[in-house]
Amino acid sequence: MTLDRRFAVGAVSPFIYGGFLEHMGRSIYQGVYDPESAHADEDGFRADVIGALRELAMTIVRYPGGNFASGYRWRDGIGDRESRPTVRELAWQSIETNEFGTDEFIRLCRKLDWTPMLTVNLGTGSPEEARDWVEYCNAPTGTLFADMRAAGGSEAAHAVPVWCLGNEMDGPWQLGHAPAGEYALRARQAARMMKACDRSIETVACGSSGPRMPTWLEWDRTVLESMRGAADYVSLHRYVGNPDGDSPGYLAIGHGIDRQIEAVDACCEYVQARAGSRRRAFLCFDEWNVWYRARGAGDTDGGGKFAPHLIEERYNLEDALVVGAFLMSFIRHADCVKIANLAQLVNVIGPLLTEGDELLKQSIFYAFKLFSDRKGGTALSAHIDGPLYETEYGAVPYLDAAATVSDNSLNLFAMNRHLSEPLPLVVEFGPGEIARVESSEMVHASSLDAENTFEAPNTVVSKPFEGWSTRDQVVVELPPHSLVATTFQLA
Ligand code: AHR
Repeated sequence: MTLDRRFAVGAVSPFIYGGFLEHMGRSIYQGVYDPESAHADEDGFRADVIGALRELAMTIVRYPGGNFASGYRWRDGIGDRESRPTVRELAWQSIETNEFGTDEFIRLCRKLDWTPMLTVNLGTGSPEEARDWVEYCNAPTGTLFADMRAAGGSEAAHAVPVWCLGNEMDGPWQLGHAPAGEYALRARQAARMMKACDRSIETVACGSSGPRMPTWLEWDRTVLESMRGAADYVSLHRYVGNPDGDSPGYLAIGHGIDRQIEAVDACCEYVQARAGSRRRAFLCFDEWNVWYRARGAGDTDGGGKFAPHLIEERYNLEDALVVGAFLMSFIRHADCVKIANLAQLVNVIGPLLTEGDELLKQSIFYAFKLFSDRKGGTALSAHIDGPLYETEYGAVPYLDAAATVSDNSLNLFAMNRHLSEPLPLVVEFGPGEIARVESSEMVHASSLDAENTFEAPNTVVSKPFEGWSTRDQVVVELPPHSLVATTFQLA
């Protein structure tokens, strides 16, 4: 792997280490918020969950959905808790008590140093309601909605900087789904009114909800052209899996993510060039993860219950490696991917799982943490020369990698996709520039299907990795199916 400081892609946005919290299943209730739990803190949040989330060091968290957002009335979730309505919500056919709403989410953000990111309802909601929510959150007191916030105890504005203009509006499953042009009209009106209320906010228009959508890219182009600069970002979503047991193909998913990003980036540049504009929309990958096992009807239909068990995916080692592949792809595209949100946080396709008062860190928790512990820097374009194997993306190297550099350190992320052979890796950077290994950790286990359970919670974790030599050359032997993150101190 050859790296050169001069071949910089761009500064890595801290917001690519984001998360997503939806009113779905046991994500909020019995997840982050559970006043009945033995771990409940003074605000009803689960202190054990908060402690684990703190370790993940996420930077920005999206709320309240997801599909849930497209039927959500934000005013149900504010004010006196006892007077908030219990409603039947339609996205997941569940009961929503609204005990947790905007102010609780903001309080959680403050506890965890997260930047809040809200999704407005452009399914059943109106541009005006979206504007009112911006006023509630961001305006100084003295007007109706800002005063409601103050009455609820928050004199100071919540200062929410990023707002999603709906969710997956290209999908027929979405409440209020509409053709691209119709959605764009609604989103443009909403964005204008929201920005008129607070000029500093940034907006995210709904892009395609995945590359398999029949309107993929055409939707994105239509929306971006019609938004005429009212969208600062366009969203991308991607859930992946290994339903056919093709692990070599699954581990090559980084190439699929690269392609998705590059196609949407090209679409943004096309729209910008056609408009002759100096501004472009950047990419907000606001839902991504592994999700394929818990996909049945029973996994997504709450059956009219409160906090039902929905899409509680269990993750193994190969899923953790795939989470690493997503993050490496985001780093490689630091010039255009500015926000990314792991979907989701707790219980619902989450790195964390609760059972009663127990808490489990799933394998993907450790993969995410390898990266979020090494934020910042400038992404470098890497030249990789090594053995290849055939996949649906063509011949790809066994090595998947990304690198970032700052004044004094180099972060290297590397995955050996070979299932049975170790991979020798030689890193070429400026001669003598790499002084020593500052830290190195590896996510690895004896088999790809190894997973953490409540009985054996430490089967797939990250461990210090001591395989590097920096004497004459910077070399290492990466174990089969392993993910290694290393920080080198530079001379
Ligand atoms: O994250 C679960 C769901 O997946 C989200 O609500 C939706 O946006 C996507 O389809």
